[in-house]
Amino acid sequence: MRKIINLVKVISELWVVFFRVVLFKFGFVVKPYKICWLVTWRCNLACNYCELGQANKQELKDRELSIEDIRRIAPQFRKMGTKFITFAGGEPLMYDDIFKAIRYCKDLGFVVGLVTNANLITEEKARELALSGVDHIHISLDFPGELHNEIRNNPDCFQKVDSGIQFLKKYKSISNYHLGIVAVVSGMNYDKLDEVFNYAKKNTLDSVALQPFFINQIRNQDMAGKLTIPKDKLGCLNADIDRFINKYPGWIRMSSFFSRNIARYFLDPKMKGTTCFGGGLTTNIFPDGTLGSCYYLKAEGAGSLRDKSLGEIIHSSEYRSLLKRVRRRDCPTCWCAVVHEYNIFFRPLEILRSLRLLRVAQDGR
Ligand SMILES: C[S@@+](CC[C@H](N)C(=O)[O-])C[C@H]1O[C@@H](n2cnc3c(N)ncnc32)[C@H](O)[C@@H]1O
Ligand code: SF4
Ligand code: SF4
Repeated sequence: MRKIINLVKVISELWVVFFRVVLFKFGFVVKPYKICWLVTWRCNLACNYCELGQANKQELKDRELSIEDIRRIAPQFRKMGTKFITFAGGEPLMYDDIFKAIRYCKDLGFVVGLVTNANLITEEKARELALSGVDHIHISLDFPGELHNEIRNNPDCFQKVDSGIQFLKKYKSISNYHLGIVAVVSGMNYDKLDEVFNYAKKNTLDSVALQPFFINQIRNQDMAGKLTIPKDKLGCLNADIDRFINKYPGWIRMSSFFSRNIARYFLDPKMKGTTCFGGGLTTNIFPDGTLGSCYYLKAEGAGSLRDKSLGEIIHSSEYRSLLKRVRRRDCPTCWCAVVHEYNIFFRPLEILRSLRLLRVAQDGR
């Protein structure tokens, strides 16, 4: 009986998402279903492919939303029917009140996730995270060894990630969170992804997500050559991804549609024939409270959630012009599961193949 009730709940949830997906696709402003809340731009690392982590930290901190702001803003999303919040950044663990923010959003009824580089996870922090009630923790790990240090520009990075993961495993039973890896696929690791899967398996982690690196965001231009995947190797990457899909069914966090298009993104960054749902189904909140589609595009001039309501901002002309840019792909372009996964609503075969939608409805990634 309970199974039938759950199935009915999932199907009705899917209808809500489907309805918003169709409305957004045809040009309407929709209520956000999921938010990526970038609580800080500050970061303890300065990875080669990321522009963050270099700026003046105090200046950035002064502009961040306070926990009181978060407590005022989050209920507005809940009222609009937002189901998922993922905290990210910069490094979200650098935000002083991150555990309070997670707890508060959990108490409001959101499914709450965290994306972290895991370098700041001590035993105490792992325990606090578990007690915060977080539902999902996604650890960035591009390779389980020295190569990760090179990519992340820090000699102890992998060692810290590994110890963070061990602490998180220790406290997992407190709130039974999902513990997975996000690996950024670049020229430095595209032919070594087996090792990421092996590491995740050996550590009994719950999932691996593959994310092609945004080719327009390389902080360290000296590394551009190394990060770029040679075009004649994209076929090998495709074959490997196919193999992972078959070898680890249900364990790769994205749909097979998303995964099978990773290599294509490097050839066709605009990903013709797909829609970006950024600013629609998934919205970003930036550290100063501005809304946007993604890291790259903000609704400049629409105001901040610090002093305007969510309704006012998403119905403003500035927000509408931002969505026009998203639809035209007048942006640096990316292939990111958070904003592109909804494309499978228009590919029924993919839905059947991956049953991914059930997961979207249940836990949001
Ligand atoms: C911006 S980070 C914020 C969270 C945290 N600092 C971390 O690294 O996990 C969010 C995710 O974006 C990934 N990322 C950073 N730069 C990227 C790029 N140029 N292309 C694709 N993904 C990138 C990170 O590896 C991480 O998984
Ligand atoms: S990818 Fe994450 S850890 Fe690396 S610099 Fe960017 S925000 Fe920091
Ligand atoms: S496709 Fe463009 S608008 Fe959409 S998330 Fe990527 S960079 Fe942002």
